[in-house]
Amino acid sequence: MNRQGYYGRWGGAFIPEVLHETFRELNAAFAAAKADPAFWTGYVDLMATYSCRPTPLTHCPNLSRALGGAQIYVKREDLNHTGAHKANNVMGQGLLMQRMGKTRVIAETGAGQHGVATATMAARFGFACTIYMGAEDVRRQRPNVFWMEKLGAQVVPVTDGSQTLKDAINEAFRDWVTNMSDTHYCLGTVCGPHPFPEMVGYFQGLIGQEARRQILTACGRLPARVYACVGGGSNAYGIMSGFLDDSRVELIGVEAGGLGLDSGRHAARIAGRHGQAGVAQGYRTLFLQDEDGQMQDTHSVAAGLDYIGVSPILADLAEAGRVRFAAATDQEVLLALDRTMKAEGLIPALESAHAFAHAFKEVGELSPEESVIINMSGRGDKDIFTIAHAFGDPSWQAFIRERGREYGA
Ligand SMILES: Cc1ncc(COP(=O)(O)O)c(C=O)c1O
Repeated sequence: MNRQGYYGRWGGAFIPEVLHETFRELNAAFAAAKADPAFWTGYVDLMATYSCRPTPLTHCPNLSRALGGAQIYVKREDLNHTGAHKANNVMGQGLLMQRMGKTRVIAETGAGQHGVATATMAARFGFACTIYMGAEDVRRQRPNVFWMEKLGAQVVPVTDGSQTLKDAINEAFRDWVTNMSDTHYCLGTVCGPHPFPEMVGYFQGLIGQEARRQILTACGRLPARVYACVGGGSNAYGIMSGFLDDSRVELIGVEAGGLGLDSGRHAARIAGRHGQAGVAQGYRTLFLQDEDGQMQDTHSVAAGLDYIGVSPILADLAEAGRVRFAAATDQEVLLALDRTMKAEGLIPALESAHAFAHAFKEVGELSPEESVIINMSGRGDKDIFTIAHAFGDPSWQAFIRERGREYGA
């Protein structure tokens, strides 16, 4: 990254004049925190006592045997408090808010995991909390909306545009502009204007630091490959940052292939070469847009992956050839999920199952002496409605009908 928060051609901070002072304050607070060794120690300590860190690295003997290639290891970010890697980022930003003396937090959320994590952090630190969520995602991720509200947050459904993540981000920025003095915007991924990509990457870097130590202990050597799903890119950059200097470790980001890369119904900005350079939501990256530069609608079975932009850090690493990009379709994801549950008793989130699906296609190319790590960014409980629907599970449908009758539906 250079001085203005650019990663190669990507990044920057395209913000309205009215937010300049807020960003100056945030940059200064983050720089001071980074320079203070006690801040990082306090962060690691908080994550150990509040969020189950270090999360384990789990060997998957049954899948490794069945797929006949490298040993598969899974980094268990699902075991974080609230069930996803999102906890790492929000608790870090919560500590930063305390240093800045802010009392209110706002956030955007897609799948709801970042919203639940932020609401949890707000409850723990005693902050007021408002979460912006696309109305479509409110419908898809009702259990997470329920938890956010029970944790004391106000959830605001956003009815603009496609009513998904990008619309929620726009709304959160609108709020911030009018409430800068007491409010921090806790952005949930390695996107947005500088310093957010760097800051979120800094906190999520804990995943990669742990994973590198753990695989060396387990195998005595580095993995051949590291796989992670990519929405905005925070779990992917988090784990990959631990291996960036290990040139022999191949890093693979897996995007949402939706109904297929030729269907126009996906969110593969880099893998399908569909993303085009643009500036939106305060930064420059590859966005899915039409010839007139209008943002396109995206689709994925996983609400957390259907974002139109991608981390400027990952766009740069892709251009430099350091991270290879691939996509998994909704169908491949459901099959991978089914296989993982039955073979290993793990229930990955639909987002994480993208990384599993693509890794399964490739591990056969490697030998059993080698290993791969798949980042399991979250657990699948939140997806129970989507997964049960996709599998057409008859007993689940009977249960829903029964519940509907109870509520007079
Ligand atoms: C479990 C899980 N994994 C992955 C993502 C995608 O985000 P990112 O690419 O920033 O890790 C989300 C987003 O909501 C998520 O909930």
